[in-house]
Amino acid sequence: KRIVLFASGSGSNAEKIADYFVGNADVEVSLIVSNNPKAGVIERARRLHIPVLLFDRKTFYDTNRITQLLLNQNVDLIVLAGFMWLMPADLVRAFPNKIVNIHPALLPKFGGKGMYGHFVHEAVVAAGETESGITIHYVNEHYDEGQIIFQAHCLVVPTDTPDDVAKKVQVLEHEHYPRIVAEVLAGLI
Ligand code: GRF
Repeated sequence: KRIVLFASGSGSNAEKIADYFVGNADVEVSLIVSNNPKAGVIERARRLHIPVLLFDRKTFYDTNRITQLLLNQNVDLIVLAGFMWLMPADLVRAFPNKIVNIHPALLPKFGGKGMYGHFVHEAVVAAGETESGITIHYVNEHYDEGQIIFQAHCLVVPTDTPDDVAKKVQVLEHEHYPRIVAEVLAGLI
């Protein structure tokens, strides 16, 4: 089975997923796609010996290069791990129920455009939520509205800052995303 990871930032989730499959004869992470030449994920990919492909917005949206490339590589699952662009419609159509994403909150709350990264945790704290967590879901053309695959929760206490929440959520991401990706690949969920 072949996985391609998409990441725009630090890539800690991408690294955890790649590490999880090291030594697994049946699953390989064949490529990391990014839109940010300064992304930390590029350095992580170098250490992991995984090739990186950088796309600019024009190529990503105005051509079908990414879709053709992934089809030609017989990719079984596309895993978004902190990728900040919406998936092009032709890519979503070419990979039905084969694109998953992780959102650092409990969708359907705190989702949608602009709700990513630190903003999510600020909104959760500002709303006085008593819990937060992660949502792993299939991707469709509308950001965070695809079918939910898995959620995990963490407590939020009144003294928590957005950073405290971010740290608790990241622990859940690293703990669960690799395994959920493996289960989706195995057709178990
Ligand atoms: C994570 O919070 C993830 O939930 C969100 O983007 C962030 C990626 O973090 N989609 P990293 O680049 O994997 O460290």
